[in-house]
Amino acid sequence: MSIDIHHERLLVIDFGSQYTQLIARRIREAGVYCEIHPFDVTDAFVTEFNPRGVVLSGGPESVTEGWTPRIPEAIFLLDVPLLGICYGMHAMAEQLGGRVAGSDEREFGHAKVAVEEGMDLLAELPGLDGSELDVWMSHGDKVVELPEGFAVGAGTTSAPIAAMVNPQRRWYGVQFHPEVTHTQDGAEILRRFAREICGCTGLWTPENIIEEAVAAVQALVGPDGKVVLGLSGGVDSSVVAALLSRAIGERLTCVFVDNGLLRLGEREEVEKTFRPSNVLSLNLVTVDAADEFLSNLKGLTDPEDKRKAIGATFIDVFDREAHRIEDVAWLAQGTIYPDVIESAASGFGKAHVIKSHHNVGGLPERMKLKLVEPLRELFKDEVRKVGLALGLPREMVFRHPFPGPGLGVRILGEVRKDYADTLRRADAIFIEELRNADYYDRVSQAFTVFLPVRSVGVVGDARRYAYVIALRAVETIDFMTARWARLPYDLIGHVSDRIMNEISEVSRVVYDVSSKPPATIEWE
Ligand code: XMP
Repeated sequence: MSIDIHHERLLVIDFGSQYTQLIARRIREAGVYCEIHPFDVTDAFVTEFNPRGVVLSGGPESVTEGWTPRIPEAIFLLDVPLLGICYGMHAMAEQLGGRVAGSDEREFGHAKVAVEEGMDLLAELPGLDGSELDVWMSHGDKVVELPEGFAVGAGTTSAPIAAMVNPQRRWYGVQFHPEVTHTQDGAEILRRFAREICGCTGLWTPENIIEEAVAAVQALVGPDGKVVLGLSGGVDSSVVAALLSRAIGERLTCVFVDNGLLRLGEREEVEKTFRPSNVLSLNLVTVDAADEFLSNLKGLTDPEDKRKAIGATFIDVFDREAHRIEDVAWLAQGTIYPDVIESAASGFGKAHVIKSHHNVGGLPERMKLKLVEPLRELFKDEVRKVGLALGLPREMVFRHPFPGPGLGVRILGEVRKDYADTLRRADAIFIEELRNADYYDRVSQAFTVFLPVRSVGVVGDARRYAYVIALRAVETIDFMTARWARLPYDLIGHVSDRIMNEISEVSRVVYDVSSKPPATIEWE
């Protein structure tokens, strides 16, 4: 009988902070399972969830302004440690009889707090300078009167109660954000809360996650259930493939669709990685559907029309292929935890969330297959760790994201095969040089874009009019905002030389210096 790794769990109550997911990630990194739920969960849910401790997130609102979100009363009845962060601390203070006030001296950004004796959450942290800790603040309100049973845990000159503690109940509040990297020892503070204060032992490890996911899939699909998976070569579907291969072996069929819009050598790489070996046993079907995709894209210039055509063609091809598998009853998808939380937050309902950006919406309904989503509980960094632990190659696990419509949204306007071939070659040069210069892992996403305009160049004595390639590289944490990557000029120059020398269809290379917003990462 294997251990239940969800047994020790924390509850993260979300008050709408942009950092809530970071709190959960830090706790998981400390080896403790936790889930994020909105502040308006019912008391019955809280009791049923039975956490070992609760973290109350920050939030944009002010408890001083009438009706704002409050902590479910059931949380105070649980008799487990609590940690209120920023707004979570304010709500805690307010609801327990203390007082919160707006502040004229707003403390945003870096601040130094002086830690009081008896604040075990912050005591003897490695980064303490005397009693002072460098922290990150981002709220104007502050606690001005402690609730009964609480003592000051840390203070700054303008916020004398920057942290508070009720040692009997093990309830803590911090005005600053331990979950962001700007707070010195922030990860250690959350680890200490989860492990030492809540007493969790650290069951949430990649090996345990795999063991449990394998058992769960086996129980779900039964001894004969067959599963089909659309393998894109991206991180999520690759990890699903490796996990299912371990759980059900050849009862898994992976369908890899070559849509003609893939990167150079991508198909060969996927075929190499997923060929049967001592770590993997599965059926891999590669479908060469490039002509079908290109013919459906003919004449289309509008980006959304192109996306729709690519999505619809994918569904056709995949459905056709899946029907060839006898008795298949299950469809596997690489839905991950942020997809689940985000869809729930937007009122989508949690039951059947389809990976929103995946361009295969509608597939499960059309195919009448039941869903297997073994990564539903995992953050991206956990998916990667699981992938490595399953033996997937590092280059695959740390690949930059590649959009579902592939090069289709990187060829501006109409997609043509010769354009795609040119773009593929340019892209391969850029990526190869980034890897050679050790920049691939330092940027979040890098690619080339094909501009179907002709620009003049000279070769020897002759002028030639050829196409333009744009290089794009960005740095980002969440892909919602992004900064153009400051690549060294020499590197850009070298990539440009190679592209123009090696690809006669290109006469000019430009570097994209637009950040998001207002620009997006992709060009279409
Ligand atoms: P944008 O261009 O919106 O990109 O700033 C943000 C991230 O999403 C990816 N992206 C897509 N992924 N289908 C996908 O699967 C799409 O249609 C699509 N459009 C953009 C983009 O590559 C970046 O990582």
